[in-house]
Amino acid sequence: MIRVTIPVPPHPYEAVIESGLLQRAGEHLREILAGGERLFVVTVPPVRQKWGSKLMASLSAAGFPAKWVEMPDGERAKRLATVEQLAEKLPRLGADRDAVIVAFGGGVVGDVAGLLASVYMRGVDFVQVPTTVLAQVDAAVGGKTGVNLRAGKNLLGTFHQPRAVLIDPAVLRTLPEREFRAGLYEALKCGVIGRPELFQQFEESKTKILQRDPAALEFVIAESVRLKAEIVAADERESGLRRVLNLGHTIGHALETETGYRRLLHGEAVAWGMIAATNIALSMGRIDSVTAGRIADAVLGLGPLPRLRVRRENIVRRLQADKKTRDGVVHFVLPTAIGKVEVVRDVPEKAVGQAVEELRTLSR
Ligand SMILES: NC(=O)c1ccc[n+]([C@@H]2O[C@H](COP(=O)([O-])OP(=O)(O)OC[C@H]3O[C@@H](n4cnc5c(N)ncnc54)[C@H](O)[C@@H]3O)[C@@H](O)[C@H]2O)c1
Ligand SMILES: [Zn+2]
Repeated sequence: MIRVTIPVPPHPYEAVIESGLLQRAGEHLREILAGGERLFVVTVPPVRQKWGSKLMASLSAAGFPAKWVEMPDGERAKRLATVEQLAEKLPRLGADRDAVIVAFGGGVVGDVAGLLASVYMRGVDFVQVPTTVLAQVDAAVGGKTGVNLRAGKNLLGTFHQPRAVLIDPAVLRTLPEREFRAGLYEALKCGVIGRPELFQQFEESKTKILQRDPAALEFVIAESVRLKAEIVAADERESGLRRVLNLGHTIGHALETETGYRRLLHGEAVAWGMIAATNIALSMGRIDSVTAGRIADAVLGLGPLPRLRVRRENIVRRLQADKKTRDGVVHFVLPTAIGKVEVVRDVPEKAVGQAVEELRTLSR
């Protein structure tokens, strides 16, 4: 079992990572909660069908009365209407101020349940039990909650830290292959940003990771959570430092919007974005070609990425539009070594265009 503390005031909390943890979730919550609280488990049908009975058995064995609160699956359900629908169910199920909301699912469930917990009766306790790679290595830690608006993703949200994050890599067994790999790119990203040993693990134990070997996954998840914990502790409200977590996200986001969120999963867009950021760093003389090659190889080594058929002018135009909405600056996070990144404000347009062109070549 690996425990990582997320040292945010006034209530630091732990992420616990262990294969098979779902069966012991109740015991763990007994350590953290006073005991006897009513738990309201927010989830989606696929997760409840596959893993629900294990979680419920463990909660009731530990003496927690627990009830299901289901929401529809998918990014489309990440909207304020869903929060209201869930909130309407809570009083009927007996949720009072001492209720504890448990998010049991991927990043969508975590973001919606977190927002719900932060506003229900002006805020109740919240526990994360993430079930996708993306949620386990990224979304479940850090306290950001949110839903989408028509105008864009995550535009409505709060900061609400969980009391605990219970991570069981065994639940990843049932994750579709593409979702699984998409989450791994975010973990690889953590390695590039600040955990050289994590990056090396991807180079040396790629096969084990891809085979979902429990020990390999525990290491990958724990290292990613450690990196996120350090950064969140230093910058809980995202005033600057937390920006380094956006490696690969500037171009990644432009690719996602340009392709209408249909062709690429988020992690896949970040994967292409990381390669682009590395190429930009290379063209600006901020990284050596051997290291740049290692990063690109590690990304491409995790499996086929969907092909890109975007026009470079369109991507450059989207970044310019971003610039207008963000006080005239677009920040690029550029890798300078394995485990080191820099935030750069003025990346020449030409370097961006070239990097996008190289992505097209790579994906042919
Ligand atoms: N709050 C944050 O800091 C933060 C950070 C990164 C991403 N996010 C958000 O996370 C969301 C994406 O999360 P996601 O990629 O987990 O998507 P998701 O929650 O939609 O889950 C992906 C799919 O996997 C299914 N699933 C979940 N667990 C499963 C399991 N164990 N076995 C089989 N199927 C399973 C889900 O039902 C869903 O269909 C986005 O909305 C993004 O904005 C939030
Ligand atoms: Zn991301």
